[in-house]
Amino acid sequence: MLSSLLLLGLTGIAMALAPPLTVQYQFPTAISDDAKVPVVLGVMSRCPDAILCESVFNRVLQRVGNKVEISLSFIANPNASEPFYGVTCMHGQAECAGNVQELCAAKYHSTSEWWSFVQCQNFQGRDNIGTPETALNCANAAGINWENGKAGQCAGRDGRGAEGIQLLQQSTRDSIAAGIQKSCTIIINDRQVCIRDGTWYDCEGGHSPADFIRQINAEYDRLNSAD
Ligand SMILES: *[C@@H]1O[C@H](CO)[C@@H](O)[C@H](O)[C@H]1NC(C)=O
Repeated sequence: MLSSLLLLGLTGIAMALAPPLTVQYQFPTAISDDAKVPVVLGVMSRCPDAILCESVFNRVLQRVGNKVEISLSFIANPNASEPFYGVTCMHGQAECAGNVQELCAAKYHSTSEWWSFVQCQNFQGRDNIGTPETALNCANAAGINWENGKAGQCAGRDGRGAEGIQLLQQSTRDSIAAGIQKSCTIIINDRQVCIRDGTWYDCEGGHSPADFIRQINAEYDRLNSAD
C-alpha cells in the first residue's frame, strides 16, 4: 500500500516534469483490435494433400497464429442425386462426414480447439477421418464436449446432422464462388498463393512454413500500417 502510494507519487512527479504526454497516444493499435490476415485452405478432409497442407499450417500457426483468421473451405461436387449430403465428396461419404465434423467444430469452438480437432483427425490416418469414433476421440483430445455440445449436435453421430450438411453445402458453394478447385489451395488475404496437388505448384512465394510465415507477416503489416 505504502509502496504503491509512493509509486503513484513518483509517477505524478515524473508526469509533472515530463513534456506533454501526447506521444503515448500515437500508437493506439491494441492487439485486440488489430486486423487479422484471412487465411483459407481449400481442402477435402480425406485428401493426402490437404493433410500435408494442414500439417504445414500447424507449424505456421505456432508462429503467427495470433495474426491470422484461418478457415477451411471444402471442395465437393454439388449433386442432387446424393441422398444424404447433396454433394459428392471425392473420397466417399466418409469424407463428407469428416468435412461436416470439421465445419461444425469450427463453427462452435475457438480456433485452437477446432484446429486441434482437425490435427487429431489427420493423425488417426486418413481412412479413419469422418468416423464417429474418431470424431469422439478427437473432440475429447481437443477439449470439445462432443456428446452434449453444439458441435456434436451440428455434426450428428454419423456426420449427417442437418446443420452440418447445410454448412457443407454452403462451404462447397463458397469454394466454387472463390474458384477453389484443388485440394489443397492456399489463400492468404484473398490471394491464391500456392497449391499442393500431388506436388507443390503456383507457389511464387515458396511453400515452406517459413515462406508462409513471411507472407503472412507482410500482409499483417500492410493491413495494420499506420496510414
Ligand atoms: C451423383 O450421385 C450419385 C448417387 O450417389 C452417383 O451415382 C453419381 O456418380 C454422382 N455424380 C457425380 C457427377 O458425382
